[in-house]
Order: sequence, then C-alpha cells, then structure tokens
Amino acid sequence: MNILVTGGAGFIGSHTVVALSTAGFNPVILDDFSNSEIRTLKGLEKIMGYIPRYYAENCCDAQVVRRILKEEQISGVIHFAAFKSVGESMQEPLKYYDNNLNSLIVLTRSMMECEISNLIFSSSATVYGQAAALPATEDAPIPVAMSVYGNTKQIGEEILRDIALAEKSLKSTSLRYFNPIGAHPSAYIGELPLGVPNNLVPYITQTAAGLRPALTVFGDDYPTPDGTCLRDFIHVMDLAEAHVVALQYLMNYPSNTFYDVFNIGTGKANSVLEIIRTFENISGKPLQYRFGDRRSGDVTSLYADVSKIEKHLGWTAQRTMREALEDAWRWQQSLATGG
Ligand code: UD1
Repeated sequence: MNILVTGGAGFIGSHTVVALSTAGFNPVILDDFSNSEIRTLKGLEKIMGYIPRYYAENCCDAQVVRRILKEEQISGVIHFAAFKSVGESMQEPLKYYDNNLNSLIVLTRSMMECEISNLIFSSSATVYGQAAALPATEDAPIPVAMSVYGNTKQIGEEILRDIALAEKSLKSTSLRYFNPIGAHPSAYIGELPLGVPNNLVPYITQTAAGLRPALTVFGDDYPTPDGTCLRDFIHVMDLAEAHVVALQYLMNYPSNTFYDVFNIGTGKANSVLEIIRTFENISGKPLQYRFGDRRSGDVTSLYADVSKIEKHLGWTAQRTMREALEDAWRWQQSLATGG
C-alpha cells in the first residue's frame, strides 16, 4: 500500500519512511527540501535498499497534491511538512499560518475529493503549554498557545476535529509528540538542523563534536530536583513506529469518520542535566556547558501520560533515553566523516 509522507525527508519524516517500509508499506515522499537535504534520500537508500519515490514539491499546491494522490494510488497520508521554529514563528507569523494551515487544508480537501480516508497529523506536546497536572493526559485543557508555531498545531487539531464533527469521510488522528531525539542506529539518517540548533540534543552533539564552543543550559533555578527543566525524551524510531501503528489502526477502523488524539512519549521525565550527564558518560569526555538565563517560552516540566495509546493502539516506547543519545552521537560522528 502506498503511503504519502509529506516532509518525508525531514527528521521525523525520514525515520517514519523507514518504519513504514519495514512494516511492508510503500512510502512516497512529498518534500520541498526547504529544511531537509537530498542526502537523506541516499541514507534511506542505504537502509532500505532503494530510494523511495519522491516529489520535490510543496504540499500547499493543490494541483500537485491531487496529482500525486491519484498517480501514486495513495491509501493514507502522514503529514509532517511544516515550519517548526518557535522563535521564527513569532517573527514571521503569516509565514507560519500560511504554510502550516494551508498545507493541512489542501491535503484534507484533496484527500476527500480523491476518497482517501486515512490521515495522521504531526502535532506537538507544545499544545499543553505548562500542563497543570503531570503527566499530561490528552483530555487536559488546551491553554492559549505560547507561540504562533504552537497555535498552528492547535488550529490544525481543531480543523481535523471539526471535519470529523461534520461527519465527512475522513479518518484522522493527531499525534502529540513530546521531545524526539536520536537517529536511526545505522547512522545513515538523523537530524540535520539548519544553522544553530534550537533543540537540546543536536546542540549537545554539535558541541561535543567541536562545532559549537559551549552549550548554554537555559535556567538552573526551576522548581525541579536539579533546577533544570524536565522533558519526556523519546527515541525518534519509537516515534516513527507509533505512526505505523496509528495508520494501521485508522485503516482497520470500521467507519468512514474518525478523529482522535494521542500522546507519543515515554512517560518518563528527565532533566536537562540528566541528559548532559548521560551524554558525557557515552562520549567519555566532559561537555562544555554553562548556565544561562531561562529561555522565554520554556515550560518547567512536561511529560506524557501514555496510557491512552497503550490501551487503544497497543503501542509503548521500546528504547531508552541512553540508546537515543548513543544513536544521536553516532550520527553526529558519522557527519564528521562524511556520512
Ligand atoms: C521545543 C519547542 C517546542 C517544539 C519542540 C520540537 C520551544 C520553547 N519549544 O521544545 O515547541 O515542539 O522543541 O522538538 O522552543 N535547552 C537548553 N539549551 C539549549 C537548548 C535547549 O538548556 O541550547 C533546554 C530547554 O530550555 C528545555 C530543554 O533543553 O528545557 C529542551 O529544549 P528543546 O530541545 O528546545 O525542546 P522543548 O523546548 O521542550
């Protein structure tokens, strides 16, 4: 069965392409390569034995999307393609609303026109803000978004919920990712941040590789055991496999209309310092870091209640935070030697 993966050359998208292929699906990539690189396709070829079919186009283009859906006889869509920089979204709100919302509108409309009914939407745990109760459950109240990026995820979820409320022929789920880290254990694919990384683990691995002078730990005075923030770090291959399970669930769901939302995390909380210590243990050398001010928009603690996805989809994360850091480090080192 052919599955369209928008943003399939990106970090989570490329790992999901591998997981789909392993599960016997035939992934087809739609990616405009605005925040991804062709080299990822070569990495996929090394892992999968073939270069997946791909279209270097933009998924806001309705004609392109409809043509691919028909030509490739697509049975389901996993929609990753989106802008994801929190800081940039505050500077360029229209860029984010335009791209992240239009792509979803174009996709859902085109899918319904082509009578394709299975859609998975990349959402984010950022929709919880600072959840009042932890671990965060899917029915926690959704506060006003703290960023334009976060708002595009909230609105994206609402669009899918409203399509289902109108009983249209579309089955969809929103998956709320916690903090994806790591890389494929082969080190043929991994995260390729553009410029200075915003996220913790790529910043750590680039610092250890000598590409950055030192990591700044944003805040050491949070009300947590060691004063640094707590997050739920999940191996990107676990996250990728959750998409396959969610897709199979949608395909087998015995109705034309469906919408639900699931957390994708490990349910475990680790502090920023715990990540640094574990990484130092893996790399065998101290990491250069210093404490700095809190980063605006950061929440103190956020980790997932994972009982809903376990109960309904039978999925739980299999890999440890340590394995994820080992794989991230192996990937970083492979970049230094040309991949
Ligand atoms: C961030 C985004 C979130 C997005 C997610 C995608 C913000 C405020 N949130 O989540 O919307 O969905 O990425 O992966 O940008 N840290 C440092 N030094 C650094 C980088 C990070 O101390 O150089 C700390 C942060 O303060 C935070 C933790 O590490 O406590 C994790 O940060 P990060 O990897 O950026 O993820 P989130 O902020 O949780």
